[in-house]
Amino acid sequence: TVRTPLIAGNWKMNFDHLQAIAFVQKLAWTLKDAAHDYDDVEVAIFPPFTDLRSVQTLVQADKLELKYGGQDVSTHVSGAYTGEISAQFLKKLDCDYAIVGHSERRYRHVESDETVAAKAKAARDAELVPLICVGETAKDLERHEPSAVPANQLRGALIDFKAGDDFVVAYEPVWAIGAGAAATPEQAQNVASVLRRVVAQATDEATAQKTRILYGGSVKADNIVGFMKSPDIDGVLVGGASLDVEGFASIVRYKK
Ligand code: G3H
Repeated sequence: TVRTPLIAGNWKMNFDHLQAIAFVQKLAWTLKDAAHDYDDVEVAIFPPFTDLRSVQTLVQADKLELKYGGQDVSTHVSGAYTGEISAQFLKKLDCDYAIVGHSERRYRHVESDETVAAKAKAARDAELVPLICVGETAKDLERHEPSAVPANQLRGALIDFKAGDDFVVAYEPVWAIGAGAAATPEQAQNVASVLRRVVAQATDEATAQKTRILYGGSVKADNIVGFMKSPDIDGVLVGGASLDVEGFASIVRYKK
């Protein structure tokens, strides 16, 4: 099975819509002459909700090969849920993806495995591809095998999923996020291979073979190659280093 690598940039709460426009224009320009370097790689960005309409306009107007999605999504379709954003709304802006279960949502906004499962389902039901984040904290590592917490989180998130469903898994050890020091490719590969078994158990072997598993946590241009060489790692979810056009472009062109 050939899994198209996915290079995803999660902007978190950075860049207002004017900054987003400038960034996307510059990124498109930077990558333009290098299309042959990465034409078998998919690139997606995850801007704040308020930027998505502007990103859509640019992608459509310039026919950019750039996918995008929301950083989170509501468990609900519509109704009295002040401040929430429905998966349908993202779909109407031509989003392909929605991140669910990012550790900053799990820990700072106290989202349970049940909530993450409901969000993943809401995204899937709106024909978005959920990008399901899992990962252990440093404290978890004192008590459990490295893969134990991420595997449990993934089992919980996939409760309503079946064979053939389309989703992406991002393994992000919480201790490596924004830390400057990433996990080693070996550490990431070990957990990713367990996560692929979890996907197989929750769905079937064919689904596990086509599902992309990303690594996230202090990914930069100078450490991406090790991850991409790992057999069960099919891309990266980049935070801080996705905010610099040149830096993100070098990550996208990691083969060079
Ligand atoms: O979603 C992205 C991750 O949280 C990684 O963030 O690349 O700044 O460590 P980072």
